[in-house]
Amino acid sequence: MPDTTIINVRGRRVWDSRGRPTVEAEVHLACGASGRAIAPAGASRGTREAVDLRDAGGLGVSAAVANINGAIAGALAGMNAATQEEIDRAMIALDGTPNKARLGANATVAVSLAVLQATARAHQLPLFLYLADGRPIRLPLPEIQIFGGGAHAGRRIDIQDLMVMALSAGTFDEALEMTARVYQAAGELMRDSGRLHGVADEGGWWPEFASNEEAIETLLRAIERAGFVPGDEIAISLDIAASEFGAGGGYRLGLDGKSLDSDGMCDLVIGWLARYPIISVEDPLAEDDREGMMRFTAAVGDQVQIIGDDYLTTSAARVRDAITDRACNAVLLKPNQCGTVSETRAALDLAKAAGWGCIVSARSGETEDVSIVHLATGWDAGQLKVGSFARGERMAKWNEALRIEEMLGARARFAGRGALPLKNSY
Ligand code: PGA
Ligand code: ZN
Repeated sequence: MPDTTIINVRGRRVWDSRGRPTVEAEVHLACGASGRAIAPAGASRGTREAVDLRDAGGLGVSAAVANINGAIAGALAGMNAATQEEIDRAMIALDGTPNKARLGANATVAVSLAVLQATARAHQLPLFLYLADGRPIRLPLPEIQIFGGGAHAGRRIDIQDLMVMALSAGTFDEALEMTARVYQAAGELMRDSGRLHGVADEGGWWPEFASNEEAIETLLRAIERAGFVPGDEIAISLDIAASEFGAGGGYRLGLDGKSLDSDGMCDLVIGWLARYPIISVEDPLAEDDREGMMRFTAAVGDQVQIIGDDYLTTSAARVRDAITDRACNAVLLKPNQCGTVSETRAALDLAKAAGWGCIVSARSGETEDVSIVHLATGWDAGQLKVGSFARGERMAKWNEALRIEEMLGARARFAGRGALPLKNSY
């Protein structure tokens, strides 16, 4: 067995895909192995997320980096990196707040992931194989953005992500090839109508639309133009991110000039489900609208995947409540929403045990770090959300999954539509 005692933890400032500072951690072990990871950053964050520590008056991360080089390095030196839960518990105890406000979740998540990376290296295994620990491995069904919106496109439209899922793909490689065709077709539609204006934060086409529904309609036409049968071969997935325009039971759709109550918002999305081949909806109601989420799930939870992102914030406690409430049927897992690998894993375990869908997700502010691809694969989450099909920080993740699929060879299995928590349709 390699000596996985931690001998050094270092933090440094690096930069993310929006040109903003973020935190990288590097962990060195006694056996000579080391691991590195970078914290991502969200733009449409749930209010209950763990806190990203930023310097007063700006986006600087000098305090978060100093916490890694000081308190965290001190606490972790001499600990065994192979005991991930103990490492994460030590950081949680050192932080002492309910939301990582003291150390910063950007500091803790970078260290937590770097510890995991270093341990896999010490065992001379790719991270996904280390995590799988001999269990069968499935490549996740990718959820890939075609149009970006909401907070990722200057609020040009209200819906945040218009995505596709290649349901008929037999492999991850094929899913990407199918998505590439839809992405190109969508770009051509925008070009032909004089509305091509580059891309939003996650690489999806800039959403130059007259209404939210026109965006969905255009995505449907892009799927058809690419030669696929909508709903059968390729289905639509939406992240409404309703907390960005709704609170206290009121919703204001700026582009449509509509103000709706919770029932009205439910009905609006249910109308879209009736008219378009939508297989998955994320945060259809706001993070504070528990009743709305329960009503929505009761109405359509047997036909579509209903994902809690801002609603659940990768919190095992909130997942447990939502299982009891029947307020969703899937969880989005973003390690920096809770701040450690172990807490992310706890949320996944609960959701899986309930038969929920599990989607490991990037943030809108990303880097070349590909750890989440290994988490999705090694933990057999079943689904992966990374943004669009453009920009290096997105492609780095899709390409890493291709390498994993190739490495597995004949052993590679693809989760496909079986990853969706739907027994009655599709
Ligand atoms: P964020 O949004 O990373 O900007 O918070 C992503 C999402 O809502 O899924
Ligand atoms: Zn979301």
